[in-house]
Amino acid sequence: MSVLETRKAEAGVNDLFIDRWSPRAYAADEIPDSDLFTVLEAARWAPSARNAQPWRFVYARRGAAGFQGMVASMAAYNQQWAPKASALIALLSAKVYPFGDKTEPNGYHSFDAGAAWVNLSLQANLLGWRTRAIGAFDKARAAEALKVPETYAVEVIIAIGKPGDPEMLPADLRSKESPTTRLPLRELISDGVFKF
Ligand SMILES: Cc1cc2nc3c(=O)[nH]c(=O)nc-3n(C[C@H](O)[C@H](O)[C@H](O)COP(=O)(O)O)c2cc1C
Repeated sequence: MSVLETRKAEAGVNDLFIDRWSPRAYAADEIPDSDLFTVLEAARWAPSARNAQPWRFVYARRGAAGFQGMVASMAAYNQQWAPKASALIALLSAKVYPFGDKTEPNGYHSFDAGAAWVNLSLQANLLGWRTRAIGAFDKARAAEALKVPETYAVEVIIAIGKPGDPEMLPADLRSKESPTTRLPLRELISDGVFKF
C-alpha cells in the first residue's frame, strides 16, 4: 500500500507533503554526489531570519570516519538502524548573526535550521531517497567528533538512504515501520484567538 493511500490530506495539498515519511529501514545503495548535493542545495534555499542562512551541513557516507563518529554519538535505539543509511548529515546552525561584530545572538538559528531540514527531506523524497531526522544523540560528543566549534549548535543528524526491507529491522522497530498520521486540522487551528 502506498503512502498516499494510508495518509489522507483533509484540505487538498500537493502530494509531496504527504508522500514524505521517515523510515528506518534503508537499502545498501551508495548516494552519488549529484543527489547528495541536490538535497543540500534544496536546504540552502530555505528562508531564514535576515537571510543569515545559519545552517551548515557536515555529511559523511557510510564507512567514512565522520559517519562512525555520528553513529557513536547516537542513543542506542538509533544505533540499531542508522548505520545502514547511505549517508548521515549533521545539521548545524550558527548561534550568532554573521553581521557586524558577529556577536549578536540569532534567536532564530534553530527555527531556520528546521526550515532547511524540511527542504532537504522533501527534495530527497522527490529523488527517491528517504530521510529520518535524529534528535536522540549526544550533542557534545557529536560536536567533538566533527570538530564543531561552540558558536554552532548541532541540531539533528539526518539519515538518508533508499527505502529498504523492514525485515532487516529488530522486531520492535519493524512493528513501527509505517507512515505516521497527523492530528486533525481542526485541533491545530483557531480563528482569531487561542481556543484549544
Ligand atoms: C527534531 C527531530 C528529532 C527526531 N529524533 C528522532 C530520533 O532520535 N530517532 C528516530 O528514530 N526518529 C526521530 N525523529 C523522527 C520522528 O519521530 C518522525 O519524523 C515523526 O514520527 C513523524 O513521522 P514522519 O517523519 O514519518 O512523518 C525525529 C524527528 C525530528 C523532526
